[in-house]
Amino acid sequence: MLDGAEVAKHATRESCWIVIDSKVYDVTSFLFRHPGGAAILLRQAGSDATAEFAKVHPLDYVQELPEGSCLGPLDPKTATSLNSPKPQPSREVVSTEELPHPSLCVTTGDFEAAAKSALPHRFWTYVSGSANSGLSLKGNLDDWARIRFRPRVLRNVGTVDMGGSILGHKTQFPFYVSAMGTMGNIHPGAEPETVRGIVRKGLHGVISTASTKTPDEIMDSYRREQSQVGDASPSVLFFQLYLPTDREKAVALIKRAKAAGYQGIWLTVDTPLLGKRTADRRLQAIEALSMGLEQEQTPNRPIGGENSLAPAFGGRDVPGQLSPHTTWEDLKWIRDAWQGPIVLKGIQCADDAKLAMEHGCEGILLSNHGGRQLHTAPSALMTLLEIRTYCPEVLDKLEVYVDGGLRDGADVLKAICLGATAVGVGRPYLYALAAYGSRGIERCTDSKSSMLRFGVLRVTLLTTFKYCRKNWRLL
Ligand SMILES: Cc1cc2nc3c(=O)[nH]c(=O)nc-3n(C[C@H](O)[C@H](O)[C@H](O)COP(=O)(O)O)c2cc1C
Repeated sequence: MLDGAEVAKHATRESCWIVIDSKVYDVTSFLFRHPGGAAILLRQAGSDATAEFAKVHPLDYVQELPEGSCLGPLDPKTATSLNSPKPQPSREVVSTEELPHPSLCVTTGDFEAAAKSALPHRFWTYVSGSANSGLSLKGNLDDWARIRFRPRVLRNVGTVDMGGSILGHKTQFPFYVSAMGTMGNIHPGAEPETVRGIVRKGLHGVISTASTKTPDEIMDSYRREQSQVGDASPSVLFFQLYLPTDREKAVALIKRAKAAGYQGIWLTVDTPLLGKRTADRRLQAIEALSMGLEQEQTPNRPIGGENSLAPAFGGRDVPGQLSPHTTWEDLKWIRDAWQGPIVLKGIQCADDAKLAMEHGCEGILLSNHGGRQLHTAPSALMTLLEIRTYCPEVLDKLEVYVDGGLRDGADVLKAICLGATAVGVGRPYLYALAAYGSRGIERCTDSKSSMLRFGVLRVTLLTTFKYCRKNWRLL
């Protein structure tokens, strides 16, 4: 057993110990490899970091710390001798009572404004951020406005079915909630809070590997909520997979998701390393300076060889968690382990769409990760148009999803008219969660809110939806 007073002494970059879930860990060697920056750990040095850790990771995630980091249990009688964590330099959350009433949120932009005032600056930066100078994100947002409808008139649109199916599961909406990690940063209820909103609306959602809660905990909250709302239009949860480098761990994760009851895997293929999230980096530099670290150190590596891509692109590798070695050949063993439908998330050109078809994938998601990965990546719309031009057969053979920058029903409709099976919506749901919890998730989906049936667009949308879906006559 380790003594709290002894742990408290290890509070420097030369020797940094923290307590997680009553055990002491030496994280010194990991300090400058933490994707969130060394300051996050140093702020907790010599203290009990459990609460802070649990905001971002499931507690069993400590197993991912470098081997040998666990020094043993903390003597509980000495816990009072631990340091207190150092406070964040950024401002704190505002009271949610100061936020506009959720009914005043009628566009996704309204949720964004509410979230900006609700979230501590650090977490606002995490959600809203994008790669490099933000051109990929801007392209996502702008491109949907660059095409126009070709509306037809005098059609009976009294009854319209917006539904479809996602990997064989009926959906009443042509959109679903995208995979987004570490929701505990956004709302204390984290993923279970989101799932409650999803289920109450009968939406489908994709749960991230990088969730704050375990796949099982999230599924438990799904089942509890689903049993309360009944089976009239059940939600379905899918699992987004970041492939760990270690194949045994990857297989175990896939099997865990299967056993928990997820209905499909969305294998993210655009993330061999983390993109250069510029705003995050600035913030990390501010936080590092506030901890007396003049310049955050990154381990020096020779050019070429293992992981040399990360410094070259200004991105960050996440050792063990994001495999940079995955290739098309790996799909075989992933499929063997999963025994179910696979969607490749992050396809960005027609050639790869074709390869996905040839490798027997059930679906592809055209996505540039919300503009967070590659600088000047194509928007999903551009990739969709490329596929329509060079390999339209993909749209017949595979389910083709798109995400990135879809902010209202008009955008969704354009995607569907151009052949998408359904559309992923990311940040708007996180913004809604930040400001209003599961109620926000519902409001963001609500038929009178910002999505498919919004305001003056209604007639145009419904008309075009009914008559263009099959013909794709939009342009
Ligand atoms: C805060 C945040 C976290 C995300 N986390 C993940 C993740 O863990 N896994 C993943 O595959 N994609 C992740 N994404 C990307 C989303 O799944 C999706 O591709 C993107 O958000 C869609 O763009 P939009 O936010 O403009 O709607 C994340 C996006 C955001 C904004």
